[in-house]
Amino acid sequence: MPLRLTGVRVGVLTGGGDCPGLNAVIRAVVRKAERHYNDEIVGILDAWDGVRKRNTMPLSVDRMRGSLPRGGTLLGTRRGSPFDTETGVDEVIASFAELGLDGLIVVGGNGSLSVACRLHAEHGLPIVGVPKTIDNDIVGTEATFGFDTAVQIATDAIDRLHTTAESHDRVLVVEVMGRHSGWIATYAGIAGGATVALIPEIHYDIDEVCERLIMRHERGRLASIVVVAEGTEPPPGSVETPDKVYDEFGHVRLGGVSQLIARQIEERTGYETRVVNLGHVQRGGTPTASDRILSTRYGLAAIDAVHDRAWGDMVVLRCTEIERAPMAIAAGRTRPVDMKLYREISDLFFA
Ligand code: F6P
Repeated sequence: MPLRLTGVRVGVLTGGGDCPGLNAVIRAVVRKAERHYNDEIVGILDAWDGVRKRNTMPLSVDRMRGSLPRGGTLLGTRRGSPFDTETGVDEVIASFAELGLDGLIVVGGNGSLSVACRLHAEHGLPIVGVPKTIDNDIVGTEATFGFDTAVQIATDAIDRLHTTAESHDRVLVVEVMGRHSGWIATYAGIAGGATVALIPEIHYDIDEVCERLIMRHERGRLASIVVVAEGTEPPPGSVETPDKVYDEFGHVRLGGVSQLIARQIEERTGYETRVVNLGHVQRGGTPTASDRILSTRYGLAAIDAVHDRAWGDMVVLRCTEIERAPMAIAAGRTRPVDMKLYREISDLFFA
């Protein structure tokens, strides 16, 4: 008879924007928790709102069946932080006791990990983090799940756009997600054979972009794809841009830079130009095999971290190994694109 460990009671929540692979993380946590540690897993609905309101559901291996290929999150997600309201943090602390949680796994992006980090550091709550975002911009890990899926979706879209661009001799400007970092734009630009990829890390130079397009035209290639990350900006003062609009959580509402760039291209080159904004399509649907594997490995490592009482840590990918790093290194920062890779690709392939 194998030894049955005495289990603990662990909460799991998903916070911030959703991303393909969240259900795979939860499934892996539940499977190892139930089968290996004899734990009880409490699913917390709608991120921190659910903690405060004690809105939960029991999770079991049976309940998770069929969840591996499903996009989104069966727990629901919200943006927002308990630190935003006067009573939020006290409510979270009270819920921990009321729900009898021995630990909490927070699967989130920069925002959720920052909140988790503060709740642990300032209030001693036993929390372990799992980094997630399609943007792939979390400091401390070499990859976040959801990114590979987003790149695949954007690449498939670019493949399709090549043929219609060629039929009409048009420039197509494709806007992809990437608030602070241009990982999706860079990777989808490489994989999709784009002419240019513009990223938030560098103010774009519209004259250089147009020069590349003209050079290509002069070589006989009349259709081009320009990939633009949504957070890309023109050099300050170079062009009049509309006032920034913020959402209720203080994030700038992005989307629209590609319209400006298309207009600039058409005015300067005379080439007919169209815009395609891929938007939330990049976050929807089933995760790629690679994302399912990374999510599963993160989930298994997260429940191990709970049992090691590695509070304040998150699980991370380093080379091919899943390791741990303090959530504090990710809080309030973003990981920029590897500029060596970007410049090499930009010089040799884009254009
Ligand atoms: O989760 C990251 C992200 O997908 C960013 O790339 C994008 O700017 C943002 O979320 C969009 O957020 P929302 O779903 O709230 O519009």
